[in-house]
Formats: sequence, C-alpha cells, structure tokens
Amino acid sequence: MEEYLKIEGLSGKRQLSGEISVKGAKNAILKIICASFLFENELKISNAPRLKDVLWLLEILENMGYESVFEDSNVVIKKSGELSGELPFDMARKLRSSIVLLGPVLARVGYVKMPFPGGDKIGLRPVDLFLEGLKSLGAEVTEEDDYIYLKTSGTLKGSNFFFKRQSVTATESVMMAAVLAEGETVLGNVAMEPEIVHLANFLNKCGADIEGAGTPFMKIKGTSGKALFSHSLVYNTPPDRIEASSFLALSAVAGKDVTITNCNTGEMLAVLELYKSMGLNFEYSDNTIHIFGNDSADKLQMLDFVTHEYPGFPTDVQAPTVAAMTQMSGEAHVFESIFADRFGYVESLRLMGSDITQMDLRNVIIKGPRQLKGMTLRSIDIRAGLAYIIAATCAQGTSKIEKIYHIDRGYEDIEGRLSKLGLNIERIIPKC
Ligand code: EPU
Repeated sequence: MEEYLKIEGLSGKRQLSGEISVKGAKNAILKIICASFLFENELKISNAPRLKDVLWLLEILENMGYESVFEDSNVVIKKSGELSGELPFDMARKLRSSIVLLGPVLARVGYVKMPFPGGDKIGLRPVDLFLEGLKSLGAEVTEEDDYIYLKTSGTLKGSNFFFKRQSVTATESVMMAAVLAEGETVLGNVAMEPEIVHLANFLNKCGADIEGAGTPFMKIKGTSGKALFSHSLVYNTPPDRIEASSFLALSAVAGKDVTITNCNTGEMLAVLELYKSMGLNFEYSDNTIHIFGNDSADKLQMLDFVTHEYPGFPTDVQAPTVAAMTQMSGEAHVFESIFADRFGYVESLRLMGSDITQMDLRNVIIKGPRQLKGMTLRSIDIRAGLAYIIAATCAQGTSKIEKIYHIDRGYEDIEGRLSKLGLNIERIIPKC
C-alpha cells in the first residue's frame, strides 16, 4: 500500500492560524539545474526546495556527467566526467521539465537523445516549439520510436525565430541554446514568466548577453561556444509564486489569521486582485500576505476568471482557486486558456458535494457555497493535489488523499507546514 495524506476537515470553519513560509520556486530551480550544461565551473544554488521533481532532475544529470550535493537548502552541481547527451529513458519520461535540457545539452554536447517527455496529465503537451526553435539555430532533428534525436555539426548559429504560441519551457530551452550559439538570436513571442527573467539575469551575470527577458522579444548575443563561468556567484532560488498563491487560496476559505511570508507579491498581482475583488480581507507588503478570517467564507463572492500567460492569472492556481470557490457564494465561470484538459479533478470535488458543471474540457461553472464531505481522493497532478487538500480541509469528516507523490513533486513537506497552521493533516505510511 502506498502512503497517503489523512486530513480531518474543518466543516467549513475558518480555523487555520499562524505563519507559513514560502519555499523556492520549483519552476525556477528546475531551469537553472538544466543550465548547468552552459557552465564551465560548478553551479551553486541556494533556497532550493526539496521536491521530487528537483531530485529527479539532479538524478538525470548524474547520468549525464554531473554530480550534485544537496545539503539543507543548498545545491552544488559540478562536472564529474565526460558529458553525455543521452537522457536516461525512465527518469526523463517521468519528468516533463527534462525537455528543457534539449537546448543547453545540444549547445554544449552537440547531440541529444531523449525520450518524449512525460509529466502531468493535463492535456496534450507537444514539443514542436522546442524542435522548431532549435532547428532555426541549426539543429538536425529526427524522431524515431519513442525518442527525439538532435545533433549539430559545429556551433549553433544565431537566428530569428518567432514562437507561434508562448511556451515557458520552450522559451527557456531555446534561449539557453542561443546563449552558446555564434552570432545574434532574436526570439519573438517569448513567454514572460518571472522565472525566465530570474534565469536570464543570472546567466547574464555569468557571461551571457540576453536582452529583453520579461518582454515579448529577446535578443541574445551568443558566446560562440564559450561556456559561462559562475565565479563565486550563487543562484538564489526566488520564492514560489504558485505555492504562495496556493496558500492564499487555502487561507481564503479556511484561515482565521494566517501570514504567508517569504513571497514576492509583485509577481502575484493577478491572483491578489481576484481575491481582493471576491471580498477577501487581507493586507500585503512586498514579501508577506496577512489574511484575516473574521467573516465566514460564504461572505466571499466568487467571480469569473480566465487563466492566462503571465502577468495574467496562472493556470497553476486554477485548481486551488476552484476548490476554494466551492465555499464562496454566487456563481462563477472559469475558463482554462493554457492547457487543453486541466479540470480532471473537478469530478472528485463534485462527489464531495460541490456544485461544479464542466461544460467542456476548458470551461466549468461553479455555484456555492456547498458543504463538502470528506472522502478518498487520488491526486492526478501537482495542482489538483493541492485543490484536494483545500477541499478536504473545508469538508466535514475525514479525507484520504492518495497518489501524494504528485503533491510532493511541487510542495515540500506539505503536511509538516500545514499542521503548523493547526490543520489536522498526517502522512500515513502503511507498514507492508
Ligand atoms: N505547447 C505547444 N508546443 C510546445 C510546447 C508547448 O503547443 O512545443 C503548448 C502547451 O501544450 C500548452 C501551451 O503551449 O497548451 C503552454 O504551455 P507551456 O509550454 O508554457 O507550459 P510548460 O512550459 O510545459 C510550464 C510550467 C507549468 C505551467 C506552464 C504554464 C515548468 C516546468 N512547467 O509548463 O507548470 O503550468 O508553464 O505557466 O515550468 C506546474 O508547476 O504544475 C506546471 C504544470
């Protein structure tokens, strides 16, 4: 039997109180780990979250010529032998973000052999933008069976490339390849997520020349194959805006007096604006959010929202927010514009007693408030897992959340941290 989370619901009462500190961003650290291939010397990372995805990616690198040491919240990654362009099949299949390696590995090693990546089941996740972007820099691409093969004869060459749609990881991967290319690359319609800006800023301090990160166009002057040098610089992983937003969603409906610390609210404006408009009583500064729960959650009025690329409302906060809305009054329409199938968790929320109608794969209508009942739930992706934690917290009775490795992929020690807020949550590890 697998481990699971057991949560005693609060029956709709707002009882959580205390302080919860946000960890380093999963979607930032994964990319800087991929950037190891761009460096001549070792790479040091601080504020590293201890997440399954991070550990898996480090293991992938260990199969490709690197060694890493993870102590407290610091990681050091350095070369341990000859670099390989071949990703281990099973590990790479498990971790969608391993696809980011395509660009930096190709630029440094000259070839890549990787399986088509796996990851969350949130709709078709193609890789065409990665391949087209890297082809424009001179990569020869072949696809055979379950593998993608890329190679380059000599140094990649700078190019003009326009992404036909914005993609976070494709932007990061092609940007990193262009850093070691010969000549100038102009990338258009790039994603503008803050994690890309953090990555570009760090690479620039180490010898890269990237202009325009955080805007729709980037100009990259390549080093003609010369690897970057990090000197004694340390990449300080920025706070996870998705984790902070998830805690905000939970506190909005179950918090009496909760302070979220170590966050960067400047990167969370769309989320803060929605909760403010729904009537949540909270205050925030640059790095903290203080939620006051003096009214019951049904005093909040749910509102329509649409997920959108940054700076819009993040798709990764959609599921936690829908779960929170089940406790609010009114009716709301939610449109998922980024992923084709990210409402897979809704059926379980319905079985718990919520009133959610799924119109099609991208649209749901929620009516509330509804008292939820505890039940057994199975996480299907990281953010759906968090939505289940919110629903289970608000429910009457006990819930059991299975497949919690999904939650462990994106939230470190979730039970330890939420129990400090007074939630009765426990990880049960059955004895075989
Ligand atoms: N897309 C293509 N072709 C491609 C790549 C993407 O059509 O070659 C499409 C996708 O299918 C999707 C859209 O483009 O419909 C946007 O997806 P994007 O590529 O931006 O997503 P991603 O880079 O795979 C990252 C995060 C996700 C987050 C999205 C959107 C990482 C490792 N993952 O994914 O995070 O939801 O951006 O912000 O950075 C999570 O943390 O739970 C998570 C899923």
